[in-house]
Amino acid sequence: MDFEEKMEELLGERFLMDYPMKEYTSFKIGGPAKYLVYPENLMELTEIMKEASAEKMKTYVLGYGTNVLVKDGGINGCVISTKRGFQRLDVWEEGGHIVVSAECGVSLSEIVKCVAEKGGEGVEILAGIPGSLGGAVRMNAGTSSGEISQFVKMVKIVDDKLKIKELEGDSLPFKYRRFAIPKRWFISEAYLSFKKGEPEHVLIKVSEQMEYRRRTQPHGRPSAGCIFKNPPGIKVGVLIEELNLKGLRVRGARISEKHGNFVVNEGNATARDVLAVVDAIRKKVKEETGLFLEMEIEVIGEE
Ligand code: EPU
Repeated sequence: MDFEEKMEELLGERFLMDYPMKEYTSFKIGGPAKYLVYPENLMELTEIMKEASAEKMKTYVLGYGTNVLVKDGGINGCVISTKRGFQRLDVWEEGGHIVVSAECGVSLSEIVKCVAEKGGEGVEILAGIPGSLGGAVRMNAGTSSGEISQFVKMVKIVDDKLKIKELEGDSLPFKYRRFAIPKRWFISEAYLSFKKGEPEHVLIKVSEQMEYRRRTQPHGRPSAGCIFKNPPGIKVGVLIEELNLKGLRVRGARISEKHGNFVVNEGNATARDVLAVVDAIRKKVKEETGLFLEMEIEVIGEE
């Protein structure tokens, strides 16, 4: 049996071919993935990894696709999505803390809701951040007030030899907007812990945070959130505003008028358009300040 037959047998309609990634990503941009698979558990995941590696096929793990730009040539390999499986979520109180044990496919907003209702302090930092738990850990998602690493106690991964490992304490390699483990490792679960406080108090903070985002960020138009990392001591959004770059457009891609670090897809933007906007911003910022801006979103796929 070849790869396609094996995947069909294993996954049925959870195996797709030539899937347009513009229908998958929050940016609504991206060429087709040769294969897209939705494993439901670790058994299926390891089976997929084994078969792909036997064919020397590249694999890409994606959560909800909220922080990626897929190039227009698509993905010549197999996209492994955690969207449909890996949905277990347990939240309980223990020794003055609210503890979360969840699989990578659970949405961050669901976790925020459950933790806030039980009074987990600090969870408002994560309120309004889109995407899945796996993606949030991988990117060390956060805001100016904090990041998910503050709450993560344990991360379970599957390494490239398909061994399951639990990373804890000092072996959790969190960096700014990054969890420094090899690209090919799969984040399957995480444990988080929050100090127990007053639910009413936490729920108010969560809604304030959501309101702040609604007020300061574009919504209703597809995007992938902030496009650049903030260099130490600098807010890229402010910098882009000061350099009068807001509103700059290349075909369908435009720098948001509301938040300078967001590029929005105004209709039929391609990855090429977005990358042209990125280049224009980088050029101007380099000329005016000498800084090179690093992208925050991940760019994958072929030209
Ligand atoms: N500001 C401007 N003009 C702009 C944008 C922002 O003057 O065009 C000002 C704001 O008024 C505010 C300050 O800049 O006083 C900071 O803005 P914001 O709170 O939006 O913070 P940020 O550093 O630009 C970070 C995260 C966002 C997250 C917000 C929420 C990074 C790279 N970005 O943005 O995350 O939503 O905080 O507070 O850390 C993302 O990761 O995709 C993302 C959007």
